Amino acid sequence: MDRTHNDSERFIDKQPLKNYWYVVALGNDLGLNPISVKLLNEDFVIWRDSDGDLIAAKEKCPHRQAPLSHGSLENGCLVCPYHGWTFGKSGKCVNIPSSADGVPISSRSHLKTFDVIEKYGLIWLCIGKPDKPLFDLKEESDSSFRRINTEVQKWKVAATRMVDNFLDITHFPYVHSGTFGAGQETKVPNITLEFLDDDFFGYRYEVLAANPEEAKNTSGSDEETVERSMTSGFNLPLTVKSTITYKSGLEHVILLLSTPVDETSSYFTFVIWRNDDFSIPAEEVISFDRAIGEEDRVMLEKLNGVMPLGKTALVNVQSDKATVEWRRQLLNLINE
Ligand code: FES
Ligand SMILES: [Fe+2]
Repeated sequence: MDRTHNDSERFIDKQPLKNYWYVVALGNDLGLNPISVKLLNEDFVIWRDSDGDLIAAKEKCPHRQAPLSHGSLENGCLVCPYHGWTFGKSGKCVNIPSSADGVPISSRSHLKTFDVIEKYGLIWLCIGKPDKPLFDLKEESDSSFRRINTEVQKWKVAATRMVDNFLDITHFPYVHSGTFGAGQETKVPNITLEFLDDDFFGYRYEVLAANPEEAKNTSGSDEETVERSMTSGFNLPLTVKSTITYKSGLEHVILLLSTPVDETSSYFTFVIWRNDDFSIPAEEVISFDRAIGEEDRVMLEKLNGVMPLGKTALVNVQSDKATVEWRRQLLNLINE
């Protein structure tokens, strides 16, 4: 069998992928009930204990494998819905209702927990040993910017195909003809790859984008078209950051997050930071970005199976330079 194809087929089983952070939910999704999430083909339960600290464990109860996310929270402890075993801080089993008084709880009854953090309004899970801390975006601590979150969606496409798309600008005039891409120049000038900041590697470019009625809240301009200075870059394995700077000085930063749920389905969410005057309601600002995301989803869900990562597996042109480099680095990472 073609080795490249074989490698990409087993993408989600690659051990090194486990050592990175992935978005699995919004912070606001975790309220009074535990939630179930799936990452790299494994199911997990996440809940907040009485101090608000996050706990993540495998979804199956160690007793008879009941799904723990169907349980309830009592004083921050997770109670299994099947026989009431109760799990507290660090996943420790603190009560087995059927046990006679004084019988000690064996260590095998405790849950093995995983690294889970909350940052940028999102819940990030790492099911291996975190390779590095999650990047710090300067906009998050800059008071001239506001952050806008949106829901976590499930897309029926491999996460690798999403990242490839988010780094690619040549689909704009085609896939995004219903939003900002109408009439956009199809030719892309020579692309130079560089570090855009400490954490993202990619390229800078200028576009003249359509500015239809629905885009005016986002662009802050009434003109028919707007000049955008843009950057697009990646942070391994699967995060993309795109920035748009308008002539007015308005900056619109988009973090595009693709999480491999299994081989061909993914979570998707995006986060916006903007240095506007905060006068336009968040929902109105992001409705245009939502429409753009929807155009990508419709296209991407037509692409079947995993994306081959090998250098010669796909045909590339000059404008694919960034995605080719991202694929090269990703292939190195998963074969570490
Ligand atoms: S399966 Fe969870 S307590 Fe029995
Ligand atoms: Fe797109």
